[in-house]
Amino acid sequence: MQTTTEPILDSSPEITIIRLENIFKIYGSAETEVKALNGVNLTINKGEYCAIMGPSGSGKSTAMNIIGCLDRPTSGNYFLDGVDVAKMTDTELAHIRNRKLGFVFQQFHLLAQLTALENVMLPMVYAGVPQSERRDRATEALIRVGLEKRLSNKPNQLSGGQQQRVAIARAIVNRPLVLLADEPTGALDSQTTQEVLSIFTELNATGITVVMVTHEVEVARQTKRIVWFRDGEVIHSNLSPRDLHQLQMS
Ligand SMILES: Nc1ncnc2c1ncn2[C@@H]1O[C@H](COP(=O)(O)OP(=O)(O)OP(=O)(O)O)[C@@H](O)[C@H]1O
Ligand SMILES: [Mg+2]
Repeated sequence: MQTTTEPILDSSPEITIIRLENIFKIYGSAETEVKALNGVNLTINKGEYCAIMGPSGSGKSTAMNIIGCLDRPTSGNYFLDGVDVAKMTDTELAHIRNRKLGFVFQQFHLLAQLTALENVMLPMVYAGVPQSERRDRATEALIRVGLEKRLSNKPNQLSGGQQQRVAIARAIVNRPLVLLADEPTGALDSQTTQEVLSIFTELNATGITVVMVTHEVEVARQTKRIVWFRDGEVIHSNLSPRDLHQLQMS
């Protein structure tokens, strides 16, 4: 019997997750006006692992806060997973933030009075995950970052690197599409930095899109794409880690 040949389908079509179109963010007015973002265009596809770099004050955190729906642009369009964020109400934004995005910050931002497990369970309360599931899922996320022996420790009983790993577990527990990290290794020593980066690489390998602001060349080198900001603009949108090396040398 003749076998039919199936057309070869592209197993990984590029799906745009983040699209910023001509984004401006202006703080203050008249003589105190600061153009933190000055017409930013940026597209990030599902599964990418990007570093955002650039000098201090160039707009990296402002861009991350807009991407993370923590702030709105003064003008321009932002599409997250195909949805126009500008048209959303604050409640819808909060919902999207909780369901589609995970955040990691330089200063961990864990609640001091809660254990590691309780910190990681918290986002599931807001997401409406049944109580019976929360403990199991939080434990699973903490195992994923190698903290199975620290579930009942409070933040002050954990090292900086361990606290950041709890923060990563908290960021991934709602199974986000995108993990956003603003200088996640800025407060860590080089060995702990490496542990955190290994976790990001593993998460990215499972399909999570990772976008990370960093000042450190060694950190950016471990991503797959570098976006470079200067004066509120993207001046390089797709450098490879090797290009970064050349840029440093020149
Ligand atoms: N809430 C605010 N009010 C007024 N100006 C602001 C505000 N937030 C940021 N800015 C200004 O916007 C510009 C961009 O700031 P942003 O924090 O995005 O820079 P950054 O690239 O993250 O810098 P760093 O590397 O130091 O973290 C800076 O000039 C900053 O002073
Ligand atoms: Mg910043």
